[in-house]
Amino acid sequence: MGFTVAIDGPAAAGKGTIAKRLAAHYGFAYLDTGLLYRAIGRVASQRGLDLDDGATMGTVALALDPAILDDGSLRGREAGELASRVAVHAPVRAALTEFQRGFARRPGGAVLDGRDIGTVICPEAEAKIFVTASPEVRARRRTDELHAKGRAVDYETILDEVLARDRRDTGRATAPLRAAPDAALLDTSELDIEEAFQAACRIVDASLHRRNGA
Ligand code: DC
Repeated sequence: MGFTVAIDGPAAAGKGTIAKRLAAHYGFAYLDTGLLYRAIGRVASQRGLDLDDGATMGTVALALDPAILDDGSLRGREAGELASRVAVHAPVRAALTEFQRGFARRPGGAVLDGRDIGTVICPEAEAKIFVTASPEVRARRRTDELHAKGRAVDYETILDEVLARDRRDTGRATAPLRAAPDAALLDTSELDIEEAFQAACRIVDASLHRRNGA
C-alpha cells in the first residue's frame, strides 16, 4: 500500500536533508521536486528563451528529459534562481503534476519535498511536514555551506537572496508556498540536523500508527 510523506518549506530550511534521510530510514523512494523546476529553468536559459513567458515555459516542461536531473550543478544557486522564476507559471506546474502524483503513489512509499506537495500535489498525503527556520538562520547555514565549499560569498548577499526567494515563492498566484492546514510544523531554527531528523521521524511514526489503526 502507498504511503506518501509530503515535505514543504522555504529554501534552505533543511527540508532536502530531512526528506532524504526519512526516505532512507523508512525505505521509501525520494523525489526532490525542486530539481524539476531547476532543470526547466536551466534548459530554458541555455536555449535563450524568455523565462517570463508561461506558455513557452510550459512546453519546455512537457518535453523535459529526466536524464538532466542527474546533473549535479542543478543544485547550485543560479539554477535555484531560474527555478523560482519558471515555477510561477501555471502551465509549468500543470505539466509536472501527473509525474509527481504518480511518484507519490508508488506502492513502496515515497517522500517528496517541494513547496506545494501537501497543498496541491498530494493533499491526501498520509504525513505532511512543513519545515521552516528563520530567514537569518537559513542564510547563515547557506553561507557556511558555501564557505565550506571554498566559495567567497557574504552573509548579507545570501540573506537578500533568501528573502527574495521567499517573496517570490509565497507571493505567486499559482500554488504559492504555504503550509497545508493539516501539516505538522517543524521549525529547525534551534535544532541541529540530527534533532530535526528525529523530530520528523516522530511525525511520520505517528502518521504510520494512525494509518495502521494502532
Ligand atoms: O527546493 P529548491 O530550492 O530546489 O527549489 C527551487 C525553486 O523551485 C523554488 O524557489 C521554487 C520552485 N519550486 C516550486 O515552486 N515548487 C516545488 N514543489 C519545488 C520547487
